[in-house]
Amino acid sequence: MKHLLTLLPLILGSPATLAAPVHAPSRERNVSTASDTLMSPPVLVNISRAPRTVEVNLTAESTRLSLRPGTTTDVFTYNGSIPGPTLEMREGDSVIVHFYNKLPEETTIHWHGLHVPVTSDGSPFYPIKPGGKHDYAFRVPPNSAGTYWYHPHPHFRAGFQVAKGLLGAIIVHPAVDPLPASIPDKLIILTDNRFKPDGSVDISDPHSVQGSIDLENGREGNVIFVNGQIMPKIAIRSGEVQLWRVVNATAARVFRIAIPGQTLIRVGSDGGFFAKPEEVKDIVIANSERAEILVRGVGAPGSKNVFQSLAYDRYMPQTRPEGWKDPINLMSIEYSTAPPVTAPAIPATLRKIEALDPKKSTHTRLLVFSQGLINGKVMDMNRVDVSARLGDTEIWELENVVGMDHPFHLHGFQFQVLDRNGVPETQRRWKDTVNIPKHETVRIIVRYDDNPGKWMFHCHILDHEDHGMMGILEVH
Ligand code: C2O
Ligand code: CU
Ligand code: CU
Repeated sequence: MKHLLTLLPLILGSPATLAAPVHAPSRERNVSTASDTLMSPPVLVNISRAPRTVEVNLTAESTRLSLRPGTTTDVFTYNGSIPGPTLEMREGDSVIVHFYNKLPEETTIHWHGLHVPVTSDGSPFYPIKPGGKHDYAFRVPPNSAGTYWYHPHPHFRAGFQVAKGLLGAIIVHPAVDPLPASIPDKLIILTDNRFKPDGSVDISDPHSVQGSIDLENGREGNVIFVNGQIMPKIAIRSGEVQLWRVVNATAARVFRIAIPGQTLIRVGSDGGFFAKPEEVKDIVIANSERAEILVRGVGAPGSKNVFQSLAYDRYMPQTRPEGWKDPINLMSIEYSTAPPVTAPAIPATLRKIEALDPKKSTHTRLLVFSQGLINGKVMDMNRVDVSARLGDTEIWELENVVGMDHPFHLHGFQFQVLDRNGVPETQRRWKDTVNIPKHETVRIIVRYDDNPGKWMFHCHILDHEDHGMMGILEVH
C-alpha cells in the first residue's frame, strides 16, 4: 500500500483542480461502421472525476462463456469478457486499477510494455491471493502513446491463465496526435486456443506427446480469434485509411500479417509511433509484440479482400505443426458500395525518437538463449542475473544458439534494437519485445531512466517462461 499512498497526492491533485474529466478522445475510437461484424472489447469505465486521472475496477473470476457457436467453455475472465475490457488513457494520466482476484488461484496483472513502478508491475514477486485485492497505481509517461496489453504473470501459471482467457488491451492516447482525425482507429487482438470435444480449454498433460510438443513450440491453438471472434468482417470504404492496432496475445504463435495485393504502412510498434512511417509487404509479429498499421482502402467499391497471416517458420523441424506453411485467414475485408472518398494525407514524420547512444553504454551483457535456458540457467527468484545502476545505458547482446525462435521481453524499460546479425535497424524505435530468430543475434540498447527494483526478462513463449526461461535484472 505504501506506494499508492505516496502517489495519492499526485494522482488526486488539489481539490481546486477537480474539474470536468478530460478524457475526450482525439479521434474516432474503434467505431464500427454499420457492416462491421468485428466488435471491440468494452472500454473500462473511468470512475474518477479528477482531471488526468483514470480509475477503474477490474475483477478476475472464473465463469462460463460461449467462445465458439454452439458450445460453452469454463473460462477465466476480466470483468466477464474475453478479451478483457480495454484500458484507455492519455500520456501524463495517473492510473489506478482496483483489482479483485476472485479466481480460485493466485494471480497478478502485468501491464506489458508500460513503464510503471516495480510494485505495480504485477511480476511474480507480487502475487495476489485468491479472494485478495490490489491497487495498481502508475503514471503514464509523456511520449508513450501506443498499444500495450495486460495479462497475468503468476509464477509457473501465466500460460494456463492466459489460455483460460485472461488478457486485454491498453491504449495510450497521445497528447498531440500526429495522424489526421479522419482516420478511424480499430483494435485487433489476435489470440488462439485449442478445445477438447466437451468444449473445455485443451491444456495438454505435460507427460503426453502433445505436452512435449507444447513445451517445445509453445502451446498453439488451432482456433484463431480476432477480438474473441472467429473470422469477423471489417468494413472499409474505397479511399479510406484506417489505423489498425494489432496485438499478438497468443502464447507462442508468430503471425506474419499481410493483405494480398497491397502494402501496409507501419506507423508504430511496442513502444508507440515510429519517427517515420514505413511501407512494407508484411509484418512479423511475435507473441506479445504489437504493430500499428495504416490500412488503405485501395480496392474498388463492393470488392472483398482478406487479412491474413502468411507462413513463418519459427519451429524446430521435428515439431513443426502440420500445415504450418498454409496462410491463415484472420478477417475478411469488405468494401462498401459507396463511391470512393479522397484519402487523407499520411504525415511523413510521426514524432521525434531520441536514439540511445552506444558510446554511452557502460556494460555489454551477453545473454545466450538455448532451449528453455538463458545463459544455461533456469529462473531463480532468489538470484539476480543482471545488476545495473540507475541512469546507466547498456547494450544487451541476445544470442539464440538453437533452431527455433525465442521472443525476448524486458519488463520496466522500453529499449531500442541496434542491429540484427550485425545489420543495423532502418530506424530507431521503442520496443519491449524482440523476436530472436533461430541461430541469430540481436543487439539492443536500454537506459534505466528511473524505477529501481527487480525486473523480469524472459522468453515470451508462455510455456518457456513458465518453465523458467527467465532472469532478473536489478536496477539500483
Ligand atoms: Cu508480457 Cu513478463 O510479460
Ligand atoms: Cu512485460
Ligand atoms: Cu523461448
